Amino acid sequence: MKKEDLKALLADMSLQEKADQMMQLMGLFYLDDAEGVLTGPARELGVGEEDFWMTGSILGTYGAEQLMAIQKKYMEKQPHHIPMLFMMDVIHGLKTVFPMPLAQGATFEPELSGRCAQAAAREAAVSGLHVTFSPMVDLVRDARWGRVMESTGEDPYLNGLFAKAQVEGFQGDDIGKPYKVCSCVKHFAAYGGAWAGRDYNTVELTEHTLREFYLPPYKAAIDAGVGMVMTSFNTVNGIPASTNRWLMRDILRDEMGFDGVLISDFSAILETVAHGNSADEADAAKKALEAGVDIDMMTSVYAANLCRLVEEGKVSEALIDESVMRILELKNKLGLFENPYKDANPEEEKTVILCDEHRKLAKEAAGKCFVLLKNDGLLPVDMSKKVAFVGPYTNCKEIISSWAVTGDVNACVSIEEAAREVFDLTRTTFHQGCQMLDNDYHLTGFGNLGESVPGKLSEEEQKKMFEEAVEAAKKADLVIMPIGEHFLQTGEAASRAMIDVPEIQMNLFREVSKVNENIVVVLFNGRPLDLRELSKTAKAVLDVWLPGTEGGHAIVDALTGKINPSGKLPMSFPYCVGQVPVHYNEYSTGRPNLEGMQERFKSKYIDIPNAPLYPFGYGLSYTDFEISPVTLSGDVVTDVQPIRACVTVKNTGKVEGTEVIQLYIQDVAASVVRPVKELKRFEKVKLCPGEEKKAEFIIDEEMLRFLRADGTVGSEEGKFRVWIGNSSNTKNEAVFSYQK
Ligand code: GLC
Repeated sequence: MKKEDLKALLADMSLQEKADQMMQLMGLFYLDDAEGVLTGPARELGVGEEDFWMTGSILGTYGAEQLMAIQKKYMEKQPHHIPMLFMMDVIHGLKTVFPMPLAQGATFEPELSGRCAQAAAREAAVSGLHVTFSPMVDLVRDARWGRVMESTGEDPYLNGLFAKAQVEGFQGDDIGKPYKVCSCVKHFAAYGGAWAGRDYNTVELTEHTLREFYLPPYKAAIDAGVGMVMTSFNTVNGIPASTNRWLMRDILRDEMGFDGVLISDFSAILETVAHGNSADEADAAKKALEAGVDIDMMTSVYAANLCRLVEEGKVSEALIDESVMRILELKNKLGLFENPYKDANPEEEKTVILCDEHRKLAKEAAGKCFVLLKNDGLLPVDMSKKVAFVGPYTNCKEIISSWAVTGDVNACVSIEEAAREVFDLTRTTFHQGCQMLDNDYHLTGFGNLGESVPGKLSEEEQKKMFEEAVEAAKKADLVIMPIGEHFLQTGEAASRAMIDVPEIQMNLFREVSKVNENIVVVLFNGRPLDLRELSKTAKAVLDVWLPGTEGGHAIVDALTGKINPSGKLPMSFPYCVGQVPVHYNEYSTGRPNLEGMQERFKSKYIDIPNAPLYPFGYGLSYTDFEISPVTLSGDVVTDVQPIRACVTVKNTGKVEGTEVIQLYIQDVAASVVRPVKELKRFEKVKLCPGEEKKAEFIIDEEMLRFLRADGTVGSEEGKFRVWIGNSSNTKNEAVFSYQK
């Protein structure tokens, strides 16, 4: 449709029709018995029949046939036959589920995430969807927060690269093209800064921190052309994001140049009343509209109040027109006025979903996200040994995250299924050993999901299973223990004050370690965990996160050495929860407790170290790499003269491997304090045994820019340190200076 036709359409719409375009309801309301819905949940929401059939978009329903049926019926009733938008949380895969985003961050391969997003878009599009609420790019520093699993980690530069790659993967260069969906970056802004890691909690950041650390990844998504932004639940410096005009109009729209659709998070506009910012729903509608929020997700605050507010002269209809035009333009970009069904195709669904190509990609992505945290030589497994798999993840197919809401666990490959294809079954046994969680573990409000916690066996059944597993461990040469968090312990509304592997599993681990010292832990987790005890006792620890549909195959390939782990931590693993929040790019303080210092009056704990158990950027390999000292092509960077920083990387081990060479800098003295280290570049280097390669990075003036004390962004003259290594705690350092 041409722009002038959109304008004519808008001009012909009634005020209520426009307000209803700004409402989003659950897709299940439109599935079949609309009558029952109208007298039930819709009425509870204050949505009348007329509004119901003029709602602009729905969320949470997918499937070509049912969305085509909804669209057909809806458009017959909609006064101008405007097509509905269909949206869904396709966070890391629709049916073919890729590793959870934090695991994808561990690949340090944004391009791979882009390919996963592209495949996810294809499955979503043929299933009738138009928009995905992904990527989530919230910077995370607090392992207690359940949604760290949805982010790509603690570094703004790394998160920005992943944000760009995922937006481009979902959208391509034109969302109107086949198999593309509109991407929605979230949650704007700084949702990951929730106080004490408690979900939905207050966020208190200086504007400086907000701009330096939290905003860049959203900006990267916007620069990549993201079609939609979602507000966050939290306040930003005292004002809820959904009614925060400074954040949404001054920053998002004016500064960052975002001109797409801004959608609230689920009931987030209404929740500004609970926040204590809006006096009532009408006040919330007014404030959110003035902040530029275009769609009210899953309440009737807009639909039930905007018309009256206009009639009372309390809001301008022009603001409504502005929002509705953005919604119509998005529908137009998707081509829905010409083809309201876009790529929905029941036949293609059968061939595209979970196709071999997507499974192959899922396996590649899984294999590249694993982080080898410890290996005292037990890995790769000696296949001549007698092996016992002992742990609740041995034969568990629930290896997709709680944000794989459309995923099919039955399509997942468990470790046992994959191992049975490869290991010699005359000397390999499989034992669950214990339940994932205690019977009395409380998963509040998960309803029947809570019942999905595997196990719920009687005490005597559990005792029998436990003893049998320990006995098997005793007889084995090697015990592989697939253990970790239950997937429902991570994700939304799943903050944890203790970040341990569930105690019931640690008991199994302790009993096994009494009878067999050769333990390999295969760790499933949605967040950094407290691994002090486990890492001390186990001889090897491979972090596989929640690896997705092909997790079992990839894990067995890693255990047997068919693939060599190359993942690097995208988020620090704290020494213990008392150290949280902990992140590598911290400030020095005036009393830095430098390594080896034994002084009292330093910034430190008296009972634990300052350093995390495993730092950002850390990950081992089955081979060894030697990285030469940093050489610089010069020791002064000017506005016109960059320098080159180089190292030579050599594979000094016996097997092929991939190393992630990381470049960090420190601005030693500046008008505002600068992080002790900042990741600025990285390169993945794949080498055969004995092979070596030069890794070269350009350091130019642009790399040195930051938000200065006067509020401008730029560089400042002075001394800089540069490190190049295979982890954020590398000591491989050189010094240079910047002069204008
Ligand atoms: C949830 C989440 C958001 C998601 C939305 C729709 O509460 O915060 O990330 O996209 O609701 O499901």
